[in-house]
Amino acid sequence: MKDAPRIRFGVIGLGLMGKAFVDVVGRWGQLLDPAAVPVIAGICSRSEASHDWFLDRVPSIKVAATDYRALLEDPDIDAIYCAVPHDMHERIYIDILESGKHLMGEKPFGIDRAANARILAVAAEHPESFVRCSSEFPYFPGAQRAYSWIAEGRLGRIIEARFGFNHSSDLDISKPINWKRTVARNGPYGCLGDLGIHTQHLPFRAGWVPSRVYGRFSKLVRERPDGKGGMAACDTWDNATLVCDAEDSSGEAFPLYLETKRIEPGSTNRWFLEAYGMDGSIKYSTDDPNAFRFLDGTPGEQSWNRVDLGYRSMLPTATGSIFQFGFSDALLQMWGAYIDELCGRPLRFGCFTPEETRLSHALCAAALRSAASGAVESVA
Ligand SMILES: NC(=O)c1ccc[n+]([C@@H]2O[C@H](COP(=O)([O-])OP(=O)(O)OC[C@H]3O[C@@H](n4cnc5c(N)ncnc54)[C@H](O)[C@@H]3O)[C@@H](O)[C@H]2O)c1
Repeated sequence: MKDAPRIRFGVIGLGLMGKAFVDVVGRWGQLLDPAAVPVIAGICSRSEASHDWFLDRVPSIKVAATDYRALLEDPDIDAIYCAVPHDMHERIYIDILESGKHLMGEKPFGIDRAANARILAVAAEHPESFVRCSSEFPYFPGAQRAYSWIAEGRLGRIIEARFGFNHSSDLDISKPINWKRTVARNGPYGCLGDLGIHTQHLPFRAGWVPSRVYGRFSKLVRERPDGKGGMAACDTWDNATLVCDAEDSSGEAFPLYLETKRIEPGSTNRWFLEAYGMDGSIKYSTDDPNAFRFLDGTPGEQSWNRVDLGYRSMLPTATGSIFQFGFSDALLQMWGAYIDELCGRPLRFGCFTPEETRLSHALCAAALRSAASGAVESVA
């Protein structure tokens, strides 16, 4: 690792996800054979107060800015991780791309479909920039095992499949509002913009791209404490279930359900999948991260098998295979994949691509049209 090339990152947005990147970089030594090593060379947040947490922990930081353009103009920064509210994606991602630096953006990669199209148009003009969108859950070993089963055709003709990402902390109606609960900053898709890409990465990669969608959205909490003693309108969608038409690898249509819920009692950051086929069926949930469940489809008695996968990650690590895998490990794998791909290594499961963000926005926009019309809408 001592001789591996360094990729010098600037981090724009020093909130929840900016801090999570510090954890990833600190644990990089766990990866056995990364193509390069990320180094955090610069940080940016509009308030200087949020620099301190990073400066205390990351000695490699050379630039701490309140204007992100300082990082884009710095020749000693190669790549940017940008984790800012959705209303800032378009402006900042475009400026990053125009600076010629590599970009790991956050979902939904533009607040709406028009913003996403403008970002992608600039990305197309800058093929020198390696661009991906963050999505880490498919790197859980159980999700990877599920992907293998699907890619190898072990399920046979698909009967139906479900992917979901559900939370429950918004059940607490005394929880103060934040930018993620306003249309102006989070965007028109609400929970779907926040959580949707997490549910789409694996099915899109399996070739299960929805052609039509019925979107069932709910607004359950209409106002929240504003944190200043008053109340503020909470105008985003809380829950969304998309019922989609997709096709399996032999061209047979099947229902694909995509769930994104901020209010599902009992769920704490629960990412899950279920796929049922004529030859086999599989289930995985981060509630039980070691367990990959399958049914081999033999007619007769039905019995789910539970394989205890342990820490069988896509990219090899020093972590013992008997250990449990968790959220931070999925992020490490995703970033390992980003760096490997940036360095030109072929990967069996790469990060979410700009083209996939285009598909994601087409699906979300069609789901919103469906919510308005009450009809099934085609995903143009
Ligand atoms: N991949 C994941 O699992 C995951 C999880 C949560 C959030 N996200 C995504 O990450 C992004 C950020 O979410 P978060 O939870 O970290 O939000 P956050 O509110 O915790 O942090 C956002 C940060 O951006 C900063 N910011 C806003 N405007 C800025 C500007 N012009 N210049 C510099 N900094 C600016 C804010 O000061 C804040 O520190 C969003 O796109 C969100 O959807 C991804």
